[in-house]
Formats: sequence, C-alpha cells, structure tokens
Amino acid sequence: MSHIDLPIDAIDAREGVREQRFGRIWKQDLNAVFADVARYYDRANHVASLGLWNWFLRRFMAVVEVKPGQRVLDVCAGTNAIGIALLKREPGLDVHAIDRSAEMLEVGEQNARTLGFAIDCRVGDVHVLPYPDNHFDLVTLQFATRHLRVKEVFAEIRRVLKPGGHFYHSDMLRPSNRVVEAVYFGFLRFTLAFTSLVFRSSPEAKRCRRYFVDALELFYSADEFSAVLREFGFVEVRQSSLLFGVLGFHRGVEPEHGG
Ligand SMILES: C[S@@+](CC[C@H](N)C(=O)[O-])C[C@H]1O[C@@H](n2cnc3c(N)ncnc32)[C@H](O)[C@@H]1O
Repeated sequence: MSHIDLPIDAIDAREGVREQRFGRIWKQDLNAVFADVARYYDRANHVASLGLWNWFLRRFMAVVEVKPGQRVLDVCAGTNAIGIALLKREPGLDVHAIDRSAEMLEVGEQNARTLGFAIDCRVGDVHVLPYPDNHFDLVTLQFATRHLRVKEVFAEIRRVLKPGGHFYHSDMLRPSNRVVEAVYFGFLRFTLAFTSLVFRSSPEAKRCRRYFVDALELFYSADEFSAVLREFGFVEVRQSSLLFGVLGFHRGVEPEHGG
C-alpha cells in the first residue's frame, strides 16, 4: 500500500471547495432525490453496477471484523444493506442505523423485517449523531461520504466510538489513474442516465445526475482517503481497493486514549 501525506491545509482547502460547490445540494436537494430513489434504490444498484453490487458488498464484509454481542452503528444506512449483511454473518450483534431520509429507512426497516432481523433505525443527520459518547464497538459508512462534510462527520463518528473501536468505510473513490478515471466517469454518466430512464426518476433526481459525477471528481483517491482518516485522528488505518481504485475499503481505529 502506498502511503501519502495530505496536509491538513490541503484537506481543509478541498473541503472548502466541496462545501462551496455542493453545500446547497446537500442541504436542499438530496433528501428529495433519496425520497424518490428509495422505491428503486436496491434494484437500480444492481443494474448500475452491472450485477456486481453483491460482490462489492461481500468484499467489503470480508474486511469487517465483528464479534457476537458487539454494538454496531451503520450511518447513512439507506436501505440497511450493511446492517443486514452484518446480521447474516453474526446474528448476535446489536445493530443500529441512522439516515436522514425517512423513505430510505422505511425500505430498510422493511428489508430487515422480511428477513427476521431487528435493526434499531433512526431518522437523523450524521453530522449530529443522537447517541452518547463511547457507545459503539463499530461504525460503518458505505456510499455516502461524497455527500457529507467529512471533518464534522468523522469527529462525530470518533465521539460515539468506544476507545479501540473500529470505523469501516466503503465508497466509490476517485481513481488516481487518469485513464481509468476518464473511462469510469464516462461509464457513470451513461449508467446514471440509463437507470433514471428505466426507473422513471423524478425531475429532482434527474437534475442531480450531473452532481453525482461532479462530487466524485472532487472526492479523494484511496491513498488520499487514508491520509484524511489519519489527519482526523484515526490510527492503524488500513485500505484496500477494487477495480483500479474505483471502489475503496478503509478501516480506522479510535485511539485507546482519546488522541
Ligand atoms: C447512496 S445511499 C447509501 C445507502 C447505504 N449506505 C448503502 O450502502 O446502500 C446514501 C444515503 O446517505 C443518506 N444521507 C445523505 N446525507 C445524509 C446526512 N447528512 N445524514 C444522514 N444520512 C444522509 C441518504 O439519505 C442515503 O440514504
């Protein structure tokens, strides 16, 4: 694994640009998009990923370590893909989920119920988590960080993690190879247009298609993301990636003594 340093000034500058470009969309538009997307989110992911969705999830689960009885929080949980995958693997977990979209979580609760799993779901914003300090053994976050103010969210995740607790992250990242990036972004533009046609997306969701690729263009590569985790206080950071850096898995540990 290559190890790069991204100084805090560079991260702050990037976060400032992301906020300036996308802050209004994050606050005003995204909830309406996910309210519409909820009804077809799971199916659309299979189509948009050319059937690779379950493989992505299996590969992510392979890097997540859990023990019976642990308390887990999945943030930006959407339709509970992560909570359900964790419970299938370890039914003795106490799983909690939070998402700002009531519509996505409603589908998530239904998905869990259908399989006989109980997940404690709350509607809320990940920037201000409604949980006590030092509460969770594990926090997971998949496919949402591009829509978030990273510094605030990581501070909240660290606050609710117990000392020594693990944060696992999976997301589409910005490939560091320019050729891979160009092919990938071209594919994404096509697949977003295709799925919004097939699933008859709302006008709000159609208007945000361009945002989904723009947000990725300003996001972090796998190496940069490791540097961000270290800079914001996680230790023992590990990373792995799939498909030439298109998808990245990261783990950070909350230090035993604050830090
Ligand atoms: C692409 S979906 C990912 C859902 C799920 N993690 C998965 O892997 O399928 C992004 C989710 O992030 C949620 N989200 C976006 N901004 C949020 C915020 N500020 N607080 C909580 N959830 C948020 C959206 O409502 C949506 O359900």
